[in-house]
Amino acid sequence: KINVPTPSDIRARKGGTPLVCLTAYATPTAQMMDTYCDIVLVGDSVGMVVHGLPDTLGVTMEMMELHGAAVKRGLTQAMMVVDMPFGSYEESPEQAFRNAARLMRVTGAAAVKLEGGVAMADTIRFLTSRSIPVMAHVGLTPQAINTLGGYKVQGRGEDRARVVADAKAVEAAGAFSVVLEKVPESLSDEITETLSIPTIGIGASAGCDGQILVVDDMLGLFTAFKPKFAKRYATLGRDGEVAIAQYAKDVRNRSFPAPEHVFADEVTTK
Ligand code: KIV
Ligand code: NA
Repeated sequence: KINVPTPSDIRARKGGTPLVCLTAYATPTAQMMDTYCDIVLVGDSVGMVVHGLPDTLGVTMEMMELHGAAVKRGLTQAMMVVDMPFGSYEESPEQAFRNAARLMRVTGAAAVKLEGGVAMADTIRFLTSRSIPVMAHVGLTPQAINTLGGYKVQGRGEDRARVVADAKAVEAAGAFSVVLEKVPESLSDEITETLSIPTIGIGASAGCDGQILVVDDMLGLFTAFKPKFAKRYATLGRDGEVAIAQYAKDVRNRSFPAPEHVFADEVTTK
């Protein structure tokens, strides 16, 4: 393990070269991004992009533990953060501590992420004062889909002050960084300038201290829908379908397996 950044290192990157962050859920993708990313997040988006759930509410501790441990095996350079799933931290600071400690112990994560601003400040303070680094997440918080009433942009107009208050609250509570999801560009920039901890944007602003994307979105692997903020850098979903169609054709016309894929009865050479 050389040069793996710690949460304090990440905090110190405020205002510097933007932090590169991606999600991962399995060892091979983690290996792919390890040397390019500062932070790899095992996001609860795993529920939607890997398990086919309609939202993140059905994600469990067990899922985060298994995917977190798999991702950790693919990393040697990047810092790993694991999302706390819905229902694992909201009840009390004690519940949050118990589950955060479990996630860190089982997965080897350096920190946890949880959703919420003012309402979660006491919990963030409880965790950070007991040796659990916390990445916060404000603006659009997908676990709150049922009370937010949809995946809408947060902090427009009259709602702006609420998001600012949330961002300030998580900083005051000790979070080492904060994800800003789906908030207007000007509000993202205002929060980035106001806070002394790094802001990590997704659907926020190029002015944030870092950016994060869901890896399946950026690779074009998750195609059920494409959020406006997700830029596709590859078309793995389409490429995979083309490859599978060719395989199906090859099997049906017996051109696969070819001679180089089959075995002779006796070893005749080498
Ligand atoms: O679960 C996730 O992938 C996330 C990122 C989009 C920030 O929380
Ligand atoms: Na998440």
